[in-house]
Amino acid sequence: MAPTQSPGEVPDISLEQLRDQQLTHLRETLTRVYDHVPHYRHAFDEAGVKPADLETLADLSRFPFTTKDDLRQNYPYGMFAVPRGQVSRIHASSGTTGKPTVVGYTSDDLDVWSELMARSIHAAGGRPGDIVHVAYGYGLFTGGLGAHYGAERLGCTVVPVSGGMTERQVQLIMDFEPRIIMVTPSYFLAILDEMENQDVDPRSTSLEIGIFGAEPWTDRMREEVERRSGIDAVDIYGLSEVMGPGVSQEAVTTKDGLHVWEDHFYPEVVDPVTLEVLPDGEEGELVFTSLTKQAMPVIRYRTRDLTRLLPGTAYPAFRRMQKVTGRSDDMMIVRGVNVFPSQIEEQILRVEGLTPHYLCVLTRPGSLDELTVQVEAHDPLPAADRAALGSVLREHVKNRVGVTVAVEVVEPHALERSLGKAKRISDRR
Ligand code: DLL
Repeated sequence: MAPTQSPGEVPDISLEQLRDQQLTHLRETLTRVYDHVPHYRHAFDEAGVKPADLETLADLSRFPFTTKDDLRQNYPYGMFAVPRGQVSRIHASSGTTGKPTVVGYTSDDLDVWSELMARSIHAAGGRPGDIVHVAYGYGLFTGGLGAHYGAERLGCTVVPVSGGMTERQVQLIMDFEPRIIMVTPSYFLAILDEMENQDVDPRSTSLEIGIFGAEPWTDRMREEVERRSGIDAVDIYGLSEVMGPGVSQEAVTTKDGLHVWEDHFYPEVVDPVTLEVLPDGEEGELVFTSLTKQAMPVIRYRTRDLTRLLPGTAYPAFRRMQKVTGRSDDMMIVRGVNVFPSQIEEQILRVEGLTPHYLCVLTRPGSLDELTVQVEAHDPLPAADRAALGSVLREHVKNRVGVTVAVEVVEPHALERSLGKAKRISDRR
């Protein structure tokens, strides 16, 4: 990185320079993992490729993919490309099934991460001197510490609240007057509810910008959050296996998808079934190769996230990824139709009187899967009125998503709140 660059500044680089730099870094990364990580050496040998076979960026498609399962099989330190003593920090992703996946960072990796988070916060509209309330969880999850060091690097004042204790979140926002909040969109909704509970008008607080990520959220949710709170809501994306938050970021000036910081991560979108690389503009599964990571480089890591790549706008050399519609793991198949929770969310937000606190419950009463959408009403209502709201939602889902679902409109606060990533699917099959 050029020494003259100030923290958070996006490098002024031409597309040609960027592609040259990517090719150089890609070659180095492939060589490093082949030499230092037995998993990659075996995988490359099995696929009959050597690092030297990479002559152009397109040649990357000849190299094997890496999956979460590969990381699990090499638990805990088997994917590291440096001696353990050079690893400054460990994070791990929540292991809902089986062992967690472990990731490691050298001090240089942490430096790059801070810089990319500073860049992301800047693109979101943050400036040195701003007060930043961090309500992403601190700990093994990358959200809290990632946001924290990025905000410090940019020159902000950080309030490291972490998730939980919602009443206190509101009090701290009122007392410390942050301009920026970094939190999952679902937990921000819980904070807004709590403000209203305390008779605080969410539009009257010092907050101007929300940097929301770690889970899918729709443009309709953006409208809802911006309307209720008066802030600019922008999207931040990342995953621990690739780094953490700050892999891509939406610019507040355009709010048109997330610029991938391609000087550090090379994105591909592949067909989730054939695994062929798709041209830009086509939707498929997002795959990342790290270009500068030292402790734990990843080659063609399958994120399972569905999106498409689009040309750069606010930062022309860097491609954008469209807002993630969902994870392939979260795809529900209801009577032969593929449905994502985000599609249900969009329809919920069309119905006045419903809130975006919802859960998709999958059951199999006979031979077919059924989907019941549980969603909270905005106000306490008699059962007949709740049923009427439910019918409206059912019709919207039928007409616009193309599936028949059951809807249960429940009382306000009847559904469990998450303090971080919201759980949108309950599989009771
Ligand atoms: O969620 C990192 C992060 C923290 C990103 C804070 C943004 C803000 P993991 O716990 O490893 O890391 O989960 C990564 O979360 O593969 C996506 O499925 C999902 N995800 C993350 N950001 C977004 C987003 C963090 N903006 C997984 N939109 C990813 C949709 C997202 N899904």
